Amino acid sequence: MTLFLSDPDFHLPLAAELPGHTRRELPGIGWLSGHDLAETPWLAFARQTLPQIMETRAVSVNAWADRLIDAAAGVLPDDQPWHLHLWPEYGAGRAGLNRCELIRAAVRERLKKRRRHLLRALSDEVVPFTPRSSLVQCFLTSPEAGWLSVSAAPQPWELRGIISPFVRGFIPWAEDKAAPSRAFAKVIESELRLGRQIEAGESVVDLGAAPGSWSYVALERGAVVTAIDRSELREDLMRNPRLRFETADAFQYKPPQTVDWLICDVIAAPQRSIDLLLEWLREGRMRHFIVTIKFKGGDEYGLLEELKRQAPRWCADFRLTRLCANKNEVCAFGSSRGTADF
Ligand SMILES: C[S@@+](CC[C@H](N)C(=O)[O-])C[C@H]1O[C@@H](n2cnc3c(N)ncnc32)[C@H](O)[C@@H]1O
Repeated sequence: MTLFLSDPDFHLPLAAELPGHTRRELPGIGWLSGHDLAETPWLAFARQTLPQIMETRAVSVNAWADRLIDAAAGVLPDDQPWHLHLWPEYGAGRAGLNRCELIRAAVRERLKKRRRHLLRALSDEVVPFTPRSSLVQCFLTSPEAGWLSVSAAPQPWELRGIISPFVRGFIPWAEDKAAPSRAFAKVIESELRLGRQIEAGESVVDLGAAPGSWSYVALERGAVVTAIDRSELREDLMRNPRLRFETADAFQYKPPQTVDWLICDVIAAPQRSIDLLLEWLREGRMRHFIVTIKFKGGDEYGLLEELKRQAPRWCADFRLTRLCANKNEVCAFGSSRGTADF
């Protein structure tokens, strides 16, 4: 069984993305499904995925630690990094968090006494998965009950489109008061999920760029930006020598040569943004991309199915996620095929 976590406001769109699978709702948490995960199902509304999940019970902190160690030992490849995500899904106060901290400490203490190789390989770093990474996820629904998932390498990497290195797939909104708007948080979150940042000297096309917070991030990183909009960006950005502004229609603009990044946050009907991304991918116009697809209501999510079918064939890495920083929208981001370091 697999558990897909989602934002409670988007449980129903996630259920609609899981057709043909028997599923059961874990109220407030997500959907349990019989999906076998032979390959990545693109699930825009899943925040995190827990493969091979089992319901489990333990009566004390030490018993929880033993449960986790027994589940990991012999399953995780020797001397390869593994990560432990442990969190409470009960109570509003600190009690659950405290219990999880105690269990985590007990895991370390017990591993010191036996299975030191597992302790050496346990990593607290939040980093993108590699083919050597394994992930153990456990959440408590009460002090003595919970769910446990062990995903051995290379599965977290192979399914990186739906399994996140962040606990519960949650990334807090970035803060930067100097940015023209809070929309900049979408770029930061996409970069974190992708494990790749816009770099100094890279070329960036920003479609639908005004008032300019996506361009602001790219400029802060040292990139060279072509910003396309009908309205100008904030004055200081317009004066930046690394920014070239063009008043143009985002849907007509074609770069003279392949650019490092397409970033696009145009307000448009979802089908238009999907077609734009597919056209740029087909034509090989960019190496990496972050594109927002915005919805007006809840009856258009099915349009994403075409994107899920088509985009992966053009991509070395493709993600489709409703970011923590997204409202009624999702972001498609990734790297196109032919990108040198994939
Ligand atoms: C949500 S805002 C973009 C915000 C921007 N990413 C930021 O962080 O400041 C959407 C922008 O798309 C622009 N837009 C909408 N349709 C467009 C089109 N066909 N061509 C160019 N710009 C367009 C709007 O003028 C608006 O500035």
